[in-house]
Amino acid sequence: MDASKPAKAVKDVVEAAAGKVADALTPDVPGAPGSAPPTVEEPTTPHDPLPPKKEQGAPETRTPTGAATGAPTTANGQQGAFLTTAQGARLRDTDHSLKAGPRGPVLLQDHHLREKITHFDHERIPERVVHARGAGAHGVFEAYGTAEGVTKAGFLAKGRTTNVFVRFSTVLGSRGSADTVRDTRGFATKFYTDEGTFDLVANNMPVFFIQDAIKFPDIIHAGKPHPDREIPQAQSAHDTFWDFVSLHTEAQHHTMWNMSDRGIPRSYRMMEGFGVHTFRLVNAAGETALAKFHWKPKLGVHSLTWEEAQLLGGVDPDFHRRDLYDAIEAGAFPEWELGLQVFPDTPEETFAGIDLLDPTKIVPEELAPVQPLGKLTLNRTPTNFFAETEQVAFHVGHLPPGIDVTNDPLLQGRLFSYVDTQLTRLGGPNFSQIPINRPHAPVNDMLRDGFHQQAVHAGVAPYRPNSLDGGNPFPAGDTDGAFVDVPVTVTEAPKVRANPASFDDHYSQVRLFWLSMSPVEKEHIVRAYTFELGKCYHQAIRERQLRCLANIDPVLCAEVATGLGLPAPEPTVPLVDPAPSPALSQVGRQWPADGRTVGIVVDPTAGLDDVDEARRAVFAAGMVPLLVAPHGGLVGGLPVQRTFATGRSVEFDVLLLAGAPAPASDASPARDAKAGAADSAAVDPRVLLLVDECWRHAKAIGAWGAGVDVLRQAGVAGTPGVVTGGSGAEVLTAVQQLLAAHRVWERFPASVA
Ligand code: HEM
Repeated sequence: MDASKPAKAVKDVVEAAAGKVADALTPDVPGAPGSAPPTVEEPTTPHDPLPPKKEQGAPETRTPTGAATGAPTTANGQQGAFLTTAQGARLRDTDHSLKAGPRGPVLLQDHHLREKITHFDHERIPERVVHARGAGAHGVFEAYGTAEGVTKAGFLAKGRTTNVFVRFSTVLGSRGSADTVRDTRGFATKFYTDEGTFDLVANNMPVFFIQDAIKFPDIIHAGKPHPDREIPQAQSAHDTFWDFVSLHTEAQHHTMWNMSDRGIPRSYRMMEGFGVHTFRLVNAAGETALAKFHWKPKLGVHSLTWEEAQLLGGVDPDFHRRDLYDAIEAGAFPEWELGLQVFPDTPEETFAGIDLLDPTKIVPEELAPVQPLGKLTLNRTPTNFFAETEQVAFHVGHLPPGIDVTNDPLLQGRLFSYVDTQLTRLGGPNFSQIPINRPHAPVNDMLRDGFHQQAVHAGVAPYRPNSLDGGNPFPAGDTDGAFVDVPVTVTEAPKVRANPASFDDHYSQVRLFWLSMSPVEKEHIVRAYTFELGKCYHQAIRERQLRCLANIDPVLCAEVATGLGLPAPEPTVPLVDPAPSPALSQVGRQWPADGRTVGIVVDPTAGLDDVDEARRAVFAAGMVPLLVAPHGGLVGGLPVQRTFATGRSVEFDVLLLAGAPAPASDASPARDAKAGAADSAAVDPRVLLLVDECWRHAKAIGAWGAGVDVLRQAGVAGTPGVVTGGSGAEVLTAVQQLLAAHRVWERFPASVA
């Protein structure tokens, strides 16, 4: 091999491309900031602010009391061509303080300096006490009309479309923590209905750690970093979490979901959502039904592998956020169906023996199918993260007529908690007037004044009854679309701090979940428990959790015990054998691959004729191609998105090899740690690492031309999910079929049956 070849090729390509790089690099893959490419020279001509990027949306320009203004959403932000003070006075200079001479002291009269610094000093607000890390998007919900029989909620009437804002989140981490940690995910949706805002404040798991909201501070204190060292960040693999859940065994069901692949989603777009609680619905005739809300993703439910999740924590801590925004920018709009499980509203509030008020229990879909009600499409990214994603305030008590609460004690506590915390987080009682929170229904309350009041209330009589304002505002009658609390009978009972007896079953549904998993999913669960408990310092906590696992399944318990080097205890409760629920498994179906990422490794020294064709085919298939090359800039006139130094396998769903690039000039461990033990291989060691990791993570790998030789050198040729063909387009067709199953499941060892 001519060692100078790659370096020379890089030089040639870079030189040849130099003149046209700036134009040609105008991104054709999502993610570039700004709506127009910047110039190299500093711009000097004043002009109005650039419009937002084409996929960006912003809150509608409503008044604080919900009236449509008709102004464009850009009116929410900066105006005019010149820099001004907050009062709109134009400024000549913002780079120099006002001083007594160039070397003199700064003058107290510098009101611009003070305004600028003072505002900066107060830019931060408290992060959410839980779900601090999140990403939001705008969208639209279109109802099928199938819910009209059970609820009078107008936004669920056939054909009705409603604007929404959705915020996805992790629970435990701080605002700056990584996206891909093992945790529950929040899935909160604000429906701006014309009967008042409806917030469906859901999670990606259908059960919760606790049955009573009074325990919420306990589970969160246990899950958050230890109070002395404030570690570990954004994870449950530590003593206080396992101390709590092993002592408070009602948490075992939710914990099992967290230890399953559901705890490390591939994408927000590939998560289910669950309202968790049972709600009470009321139809136009006043009849009631009990119901649970579900979100079903069009792309199916898929997860990362644990190693991918860990690598991503370093390689791309914003992985889920980026994935959501890139998909929307690429036009691969994420979609979900909203669905309902409906149950008769009986005095027992049970279904098939399952207590509907117990938020640690599910009703298997095989017993009560999820009936689709409408479709959610996320089609706009926020224009400003703080204004929208950070300031949005959800509340389970934001309910339109037709949807009411039940006595689930977890839900009852939540009804208090959200507004209470938002009073502090958003600095006063008027946060519903922040643009992202403004209702799209007319607001005529008698709430007045307070910090950050934005409404200009007319009238003199914010009280009822009054005659000075002509009696306004009037309560709505039964036929005026009022929210009428369902007059549920409360049975006479002693005042107690106690749970119903049915809440005492902490294990049968955990076992149901375990029994519903495929072997590979069980294997992942075993590894997750072993990892998390292995990170605890105290053996007593590990032993106690093993006792809980013994009450779930002997194989699970024995496998984890082996990994921990501890004996497996005997169960202390009789093991039941519930019928498995296949709907709980993620494996075994086929799903669309919209918005998936395809890494294409190229060798700039070889022919690249069909790489462009392959790229176009990836775009045409609704996916995003990322070219991976030894250097940045252009190869064969095509823009490079990742180099061997900047790319990592975890960013790709599929790896395509369009060439066999020789080791590049920086393929040395001293220049790029990924080069590892660079040896005399004919292929760049970073490419072999890409193949190795993609293979280990059970991703489809395809190659054509010289790329086929890379498979041989990596030792994966001819193994399951590794395809070759005569052209990029042919190989792409084959890997697309593999991608429909999300992973090449055969590659995982599945020792747990
Ligand atoms: C079924 C159980 C629960 C679910 C599904 C759930 C879901 C969520 C979600 C999705 C968020 C993030 C909202 C956002 O994106 O801004 C959130 C935030 C929050 N949750 Fe929960 N939660 C549950 C239980 C509870 C309980 C029992 C409490 C308290 C008693 C609670 C208190 C809070 C608080 C204080 C916040 C922060 C709200 C803010 O600062 O705006 N949650 N919850």
